[in-house]
Amino acid sequence: MQKKTKSGSEISTESANWSANDFFPDIESVPEKFRQKGGVSITETLVNGQLKPWPGPFAEVRSPICLRATGTEEPQPLVIGRTPLMDGHAALEALDSAVEAYGQGRGTWPSLSVAQRIEHVEQFLVEMRSHREAVVELLMWEIGKTYADACKEFDRTADYIQDTIHELKVLDRRSSRFETVGGVVAQTRRLPVGVALCMGPYNYPLNETFTTLIPALIMGNTVVFKPAKYGVLLIGPLLEAFQKAFPAGVINIIFGRGRDTIGPLMKSGKVDMFAFIGTHSGASALKQMHPKPHRLKAVLGLDANNPAIVLADADLDLAVSECVAGALSFNGQRCTALKLLLVHESLADEFVARVSKAVDNLVAGMPWQPNVSLTPLPEPGKIDYLKALVSDAEALGARVTNTGGGQANGTYFHPAVLYPVTTKMRAYQEEQFGPVIPVVTFSDESEVIRHVRESEFGQQLSIFGSDPAAIGGLIDVLANQVGRINLNSQCQRGPDTLPFNGRKNSAEGTLSVSDALRVFSIRTTIAAKSSESNRDLVTSIVRERHSRTLTTDYLF
Ligand code: G3H
Repeated sequence: MQKKTKSGSEISTESANWSANDFFPDIESVPEKFRQKGGVSITETLVNGQLKPWPGPFAEVRSPICLRATGTEEPQPLVIGRTPLMDGHAALEALDSAVEAYGQGRGTWPSLSVAQRIEHVEQFLVEMRSHREAVVELLMWEIGKTYADACKEFDRTADYIQDTIHELKVLDRRSSRFETVGGVVAQTRRLPVGVALCMGPYNYPLNETFTTLIPALIMGNTVVFKPAKYGVLLIGPLLEAFQKAFPAGVINIIFGRGRDTIGPLMKSGKVDMFAFIGTHSGASALKQMHPKPHRLKAVLGLDANNPAIVLADADLDLAVSECVAGALSFNGQRCTALKLLLVHESLADEFVARVSKAVDNLVAGMPWQPNVSLTPLPEPGKIDYLKALVSDAEALGARVTNTGGGQANGTYFHPAVLYPVTTKMRAYQEEQFGPVIPVVTFSDESEVIRHVRESEFGQQLSIFGSDPAAIGGLIDVLANQVGRINLNSQCQRGPDTLPFNGRKNSAEGTLSVSDALRVFSIRTTIAAKSSESNRDLVTSIVRERHSRTLTTDYLF
């Protein structure tokens, strides 16, 4: 069935690829391979190299996937495990162990050669790879990631570790040289910062967390790691791998509520490096707790509200497929997701009709289903929040243009394409971080430029169009507002060798395979006036191997 929009374009109202009834399956219909066999609990903590049974309280972990037990009508959220609810005291014990292992830079770990640290990380990678299936399965059950995306997340993380090792060897080779400049002979090496606190997000609980954790470790820092709010259980299978691969105190893992555990760590003043992916307000609050904020080095991945700008001459098929993928991959729960579509008025109706149809064609269901792309959401309260965004937009004149958009069943929210969205609506102003696609029209490029300039966020944007002069001009006007401009492509972080950063409230620092090694280290120079006696001194130190730091050794 088709219905007409204001301008006469047709919008599909054919039944969507999902049904609010019967959305959640019976226990029996979960494929044997993916069945939760009694849940997975984390009952130990990793502190000072020891896996210790946690004696305190536990938090129950519920899956966003609801199941209908045999003979019952209502699907119920499945309890899939429990995790230690550590308190401030236990978190501080973990921090003290990291502080001791760092030993003000004289500990065993920061004193190891680059080659030795690489060996430990390689050992961890071998162990980690042996847990692929368990981690993938937990990504599906705990955050509702599809099997395909969960596999991608795992493999991308393993590749990231491999690439990090390669990049460190390159860095080490470069740093082994001496330079003579202005009458000074010098060697500059990258040395660790100190004790790092690494916290990851729930949407990429393995990948994003490990893109800070692994560089922090390999550069010689010691670490306290707190897994994301959801996506915690997958750390369970890796606990032993961490314990086996790293010396005592080098990696300490804490579980529990952020407000109970992270505050005391920050207030202690013993954290030197803060790696955090979350909201800018959360990051600010935590940084301010540090008694010497100027000593806290930070790398932050924060809020983003990435827009797509669809110009009048855009290739519509391409723009629609990239925008739908950009807005709805992992149900829109990516910091890089396209959160607002700004479309030229001349093609807006047609664009909306095609986007709606494309959304109707997406398969909704359980993460293990083949070809599924829309799945239940893990955050409690999220469904109500998304419903409120839709109601607010509707009350102010927008319509839901796709079939069943905005309908929900338990933890599942069917994507809503909202059109036309205006500046007054919450869907325009707020980062939805979920399956709501607000479409805004513009008649003049200046409106788009104003939107980007006035935005509080500056991670990335996408431009869809074909006129080189127009796009070149827009690039120049917008390049100082964001960290990456994507042409005729959705926003994304990868490939991981490219810089990932942002301006304004969206980030602090730059991550990429090579940048992360720089972020977690400080360049330290050994320099001497280039007199004969100094040159002799340096030569003797190097030849007779009197120093681990001042050396010309390097890795192939
Ligand atoms: O949530 C933010 C992630 O870093 C996004 O990564 O763009 O490659 O999906 P991605």
